Amino acid sequence: MLEPLAHIGRDPRSGGYVRDAWSAADMELRGWFAGEAARRGLDLREDRNGNLWAWWGDPSRRPGVVTGSHLDSVRHGGAYDGPLGVVSAFAALDLLRERQVTPGRPIGVACFTDEEGARFGVPCMGSRLLTGALTPERALALTDDDGDTLADVMTRAGRKPADVGHDAETLATVGTFVELHVEQGRGLVHEGRPVGVASAIWPHGRWRFDFHGRADHAGTTRLADRDDPMLPFARLVLAAREAAERHDVVATVGKTRVSPGNANAVPGLVTAWLDARGPAEPAVRALVEELSAAAGADVREESWTPEVAFGAALRDRLARVAGGDTPAPILPTGAGHDAGILATAGVPSAMLFVRNPTGVSHSPEEHADQADCHAGVVALADVLEDLCR
Ligand code: GLV
Ligand code: MN
Ligand code: MN
Repeated sequence: MLEPLAHIGRDPRSGGYVRDAWSAADMELRGWFAGEAARRGLDLREDRNGNLWAWWGDPSRRPGVVTGSHLDSVRHGGAYDGPLGVVSAFAALDLLRERQVTPGRPIGVACFTDEEGARFGVPCMGSRLLTGALTPERALALTDDDGDTLADVMTRAGRKPADVGHDAETLATVGTFVELHVEQGRGLVHEGRPVGVASAIWPHGRWRFDFHGRADHAGTTRLADRDDPMLPFARLVLAAREAAERHDVVATVGKTRVSPGNANAVPGLVTAWLDARGPAEPAVRALVEELSAAAGADVREESWTPEVAFGAALRDRLARVAGGDTPAPILPTGAGHDAGILATAGVPSAMLFVRNPTGVSHSPEEHADQADCHAGVVALADVLEDLCR
């Protein structure tokens, strides 16, 4: 089932996927989702924030059990982060039908909009808007690298920006949410198990640092006369690594923009994005405060996600049902997910992870063996059957 998606948004140079929200690739992926829903006779709905829902049964009468993930990607990412959860959701539904299960509750397959925040900088945009964790005013004014706002981009895609925002009616259809995801680490490799269950998501955030200087000629400007923003930027990168080790967290500068960006000019502006995460919020906050105070830059928090501890009862139930004879291992993660946003909004939520042999993710190297993907589908079907009883 991943095969028909293999060419969509693939960059042959990197071998990775570029699937920004509301791009041509995203629209093609949405079309694929609609086709899969139609083939199964599911009732397809797109909510006010662009999230897609394919229902088996009517959730307006009784909240359903929802599974799914996202189809957008980090730039030059892998084939599994997001799509594995959506494809496995449809496959698990097929398996339930093959088993002739008559679910006691509606079952929904969800695809959330812009989980990665690759285009507008705020991750889990669809679920944050849905739950009211992000205001429509802030979301619609966010700009992409071309200077287009979310409002512009949604209008071009034929959507109505005026409708964006907290959607209690849609949220009320989600009784329970279970997201299956490729593991983004090697926890399951160490456990020797194909499927695991999430315990928690680390608190995490993104900060934008603008270093201002003066653009000038690279050959004729004496060193003493320069105001070069690349130098404090370089200090930030090294300081982030040093502080991360000291605070026992992780910190990454993975995106920069140099303006005007000439090899033969001192830059006038360097913008850098810091991503920081860790098991404990105070340590992450301390690192960011320390780096912000020393940077000599304008610093702005673009997103913050507090720690998510998934509910113990549902988590343990999943571990029992998905584990077969021995309960599935329970692991924390440093990656953000829509399941975390829904959990914070009070929706009982849980996650299944599928083993990733190298642990690499957000890279074309990301992988899961087919046998493990199948084990993930069986585990998800078992969980859905159990939750729908
Ligand atoms: C999403 O994958 C994130 O954690 O950045
Ligand atoms: Mn991701
Ligand atoms: Mn993901």
